[in-house]
Amino acid sequence: MEINKQTNGLVPELLACKLAIFDLDGVIVDTAHYHFLAWQQMAESIGLNFTKQDNERLKGVSRSRSLDIILEINNTQLTAQKKEELQEQKNNRYIQYIKTIQPQDILPGAKELLVYLRSVGIKTAIGSASKNAPMVLDGLGITHLFDEIVDGNTTQRAKPDPAVFTISADRLKIPYNQCIVFEDAQAGIDAALAAKMTAVAIGDSTILQGAKYYLTTLAQIKL
Ligand code: BG6
Ligand code: MG
Repeated sequence: MEINKQTNGLVPELLACKLAIFDLDGVIVDTAHYHFLAWQQMAESIGLNFTKQDNERLKGVSRSRSLDIILEINNTQLTAQKKEELQEQKNNRYIQYIKTIQPQDILPGAKELLVYLRSVGIKTAIGSASKNAPMVLDGLGITHLFDEIVDGNTTQRAKPDPAVFTISADRLKIPYNQCIVFEDAQAGIDAALAAKMTAVAIGDSTILQGAKYYLTTLAQIKL
C-alpha cells in the first residue's frame, strides 16, 4: 500500500481541531468483509454475480444504492418491492455477522486515539452511512467514546452529501473548518471536502483522491 509521503503519521490539524469525526466501517472496524458476504449471498440467491472487486464500489455507499450498483453490474432491473425484500434479506444476514463483533475487533489505534483526543478536550463523533452503527458500536463497547453519533438512521442524505458530518458539527456548534474527518471511502472524502473539513484517508492514495493526509491505519498517527 502506497503512503502519501507528506503524511508520515503527522496530522498537524488534529490537535488544532475541535471535532474529530470518524467513519465507522473500515476506519474503526473492518466490517467490509461482512457486508461483502451478506451481499454475495443475496446475489447468489437470485443468480446475480458479485465479486470482491465489485464490493469496493459499495464502500461508504447506502444500502439502497449498494443494491442498485449490484443490479447495474448485472444489467438487471427489479420492482421497488423486490428491492426492499432483497435489502432486508441482505441486512438480516449482515446482522447475523455483526452480532459476533467484540471489543477486540476494534482496528489498531482507534480506541487509543479516541481516548487521547477526549483527554485533551477534542470532541469526537461517528459519521456513518450505516443504519447498524449503534449495534456495531455496542459490540465494540465504545459508544461512550463519542459525543455525537450520526448514522444512516439520522439522515437519508448519503455521502458524498456532507450531512452525516455537518450534523454533528452543527449540534456541537463547531465551525466546519475546525473539524477533521477520518474516512476509507471516496464518497466520504468527497463529503468531508464538500463541508470544507480536513480529510484524512485511511487507505491508498492512488485509489482515494483529494484527502490532505493518507494513513494505512489510525495506529500510524503520531500524537
Ligand atoms: C457504510 C458501508 O458504512 O454503511 C457501506 O461502508 C454500507 O458498505 C453502508 O452499505 C450502509 O450500511 P447498513 O448497515 O445500513 O446496511
Ligand atoms: Mg467506511
